[in-house]
Amino acid sequence: MKVIILGASGKIGREIVRALEIDHEVISASRGGDVQVDYTQDVSVRQMFEQVGKVDALVAVVGGDSAFKSYEELTPEDFEHGYRRKLMGQIGLVRSGTDFINDGGSFTLSSGFLSHYPNPYSVATGPFNAAVDSFVHSAAPLLPRAIRLNVVSPAPVVDPAQEGRGVVTAEQAAAAYVQSITGDFSGRVIRAWGGLEKDPLPSS
Ligand SMILES: NC(=O)c1ccc[n+]([C@@H]2O[C@H](COP(=O)([O-])OP(=O)(O)OC[C@H]3O[C@@H](n4cnc5c(N)ncnc54)[C@H](OP(=O)(O)O)[C@@H]3O)[C@@H](O)[C@H]2O)c1
Repeated sequence: MKVIILGASGKIGREIVRALEIDHEVISASRGGDVQVDYTQDVSVRQMFEQVGKVDALVAVVGGDSAFKSYEELTPEDFEHGYRRKLMGQIGLVRSGTDFINDGGSFTLSSGFLSHYPNPYSVATGPFNAAVDSFVHSAAPLLPRAIRLNVVSPAPVVDPAQEGRGVVTAEQAAAAYVQSITGDFSGRVIRAWGGLEKDPLPSS
């Protein structure tokens, strides 16, 4: 498979590259990568696809997409940051990238467990994670040519020495992305939550 990874030099991205590069053609993309792209800019994303051509899989695992501050400190711009990057940036990749994905290919996006396990600094993060999950549920059945769309929701990534419940290593998170890329399912939120409950939020 020909796989393009946006955020390939990041904490999780590096491990996805490591897991895939033996058996697949992996293209590393980021602002400073082999293929340079700013995923928040439509023009830049289009140029990236024109440079790379059609691919079998696109992975978005781009960092710096959330503002972590206390509730009192958050400004409208902090919410705008998450909205533009985490949510609209990833939606934009799917919308302008669909023509560049081969039949039966896939998109794998990133969200995060703060949608379900909030902390006092995640108020401008969790809601956009939830929105990305919902976008995947909503849009996956609508994609043409059997193109698949999934999202990985990682728990906080830690060093292997700190492995435990409610956290994952970058390697464990990367395994969830590989599952999406090499599997045959679509519309799924793959929760790499380090063994935590699947849905801890009270429903009423
Ligand atoms: N790490 C965690 O604990 C954790 C937990 C839950 C969810 N997540 C989610 O998982 C995803 C990846 O997280 P991570 O921690 O692996 O990220 P990271 O280590 O901060 O990775 C940053 C990567 O994104 C690229 N990048 C940043 N801005 C970009 C832009 N505008 N356009 C293109 N590339 C850009 C960087 O390369 P350049 O600087 O060269 O552009 C780099 O390759 C994020 O969506 C994050 O919210 C992470």
